[in-house]
Amino acid sequence: MHIFVTGGAGYIGSICSEELINAGHQVTIFDNLTEGHRLAVDPRAKFIKGELAERDQILPAVREARPDAVMHFAANALVGESMTNPSKYFRNNVASGINLLDAAVEAGVKKFIFSSTCATYGTPEKIPMDERLPQKPINPYGHSKLMFEQILNWYDKIHNLVYVNLRYFNAAGASGKFGEDHRIETHLIPNVLKVALGQKDQCEIYGENYATPDGTCIRDFIHIHDLAAAHMLALDRETSASYNLGSGEGFSVRQVIEIARKVTGAAIPVVVKEPRPGDPPRLVASSHKITSELGWRPKYPRLQPVIESAWAWHQKHPNGYGD
Ligand SMILES: NC(=O)c1ccc[n+]([C@@H]2O[C@H](COP(=O)([O-])OP(=O)(O)OC[C@H]3O[C@@H](n4cnc5c(N)ncnc54)[C@H](O)[C@@H]3O)[C@@H](O)[C@H]2O)c1
Repeated sequence: MHIFVTGGAGYIGSICSEELINAGHQVTIFDNLTEGHRLAVDPRAKFIKGELAERDQILPAVREARPDAVMHFAANALVGESMTNPSKYFRNNVASGINLLDAAVEAGVKKFIFSSTCATYGTPEKIPMDERLPQKPINPYGHSKLMFEQILNWYDKIHNLVYVNLRYFNAAGASGKFGEDHRIETHLIPNVLKVALGQKDQCEIYGENYATPDGTCIRDFIHIHDLAAAHMLALDRETSASYNLGSGEGFSVRQVIEIARKVTGAAIPVVVKEPRPGDPPRLVASSHKITSELGWRPKYPRLQPVIESAWAWHQKHPNGYGD
C-alpha cells in the first residue's frame, strides 16, 4: 500500500514509517520539521516539507500522492504547554487536521489511522482502562484529540472515510536507526537516560504521595515496535474503530528509574518535586479490544528491553539528531 504519513519526521512517525517500508509499503512523509528532524526521515520515503495549516500545501500533496491510507501523527503534544496556550493546540491538532481530512476526501483516500491518546479519558474511573470509559479530558491537548476523533466520526458518516483511532499510552524505546528526540523532552524515559548520560544532574519525580504502592505515579509504556505493529494491523480494518494501545502493565516512576539504573549502570540521582496538576495517579491500558479484534499482542511486554533499546539509541546519539 501507499501510506501518506504526517509527522513522519517525529519520534513515533519516523519509526512507524521505517517499519511500514520494511514491510513493503510505499511511504510519503509530510512534516513541517517544527518538532521533527530531517535526519529522522527514512531515506527510502518520499519527503515533503509542508505545513498542515496551509491548505495549498496539504491538498496538492495528498492529491499527487493518491495514497491508499493516511496515518496522522502530526500534532503538538505537550500537556503543560496546552494549559498555557490552548489556542496552539486547537489550531494545530484540530483546525489543521481538518485540512488533511479534506485533502484525504478529495483524493479518494479510504482509510485514516489517527494518533489519539489516553489523555482523551482524563482521570480514569477504573483501571485497567478500556474503550467504554467516558472520555473526559482534563487539558486542551487531550480535548483537541477527542475533538478530532469526533470530527473523524462525521467524516466516516458523510464521506465514508474509515478511521481507526489508536489511543496510545506512553510510547517508549527505539529502533536501531531512529529514537526519541523531542525538542522539549517531558517524557520520563529519555529524561532518566539524560541523567545516565551525564547531561542532567538528577531526575525529577513529580509527587510521591499518590495512592500507589510506592507513592509515585504509575504509567503504561508500550514499545515503539509494538505500537508500529498495531498501525500495520489497523490498515486491514474495513470499518471504523477506536482502540487503546498500551502494554497493559503499569510501572511506577520509581520502578522505571530502578530499571534504568540496572540497564545503564548509572546511579541516577532523583529529586522529588511538587505533583503536577492534572497528573492522574494511574494510567494503565486494557489491551483486550485490540487483542481480540485485530490479533495484536505486545512482543515487548517487559519494560527492561524497552529501556535497553532506548539506551542503545541514546548512547549512539547523545545529542539526538543534533539539530
Ligand atoms: N509520545 C507519546 O508517548 C504519545 C502518546 C500519546 C499520543 N501521542 C501522539 O502521537 C503523535 C506523535 O507523537 P510524537 O511523540 O512522535 O511527537 P513528535 O513531536 O516527535 O512528532 C510530531 C511531528 O509532527 C510534525 N508536525 C506538527 N505539526 C505539524 C504541522 N502543522 N504540519 C506538519 N507537520 C507537523 C512535527 O514537526 C513532528 O515531526 C502525536 O499526535 C501525539 O499526540 C504520542
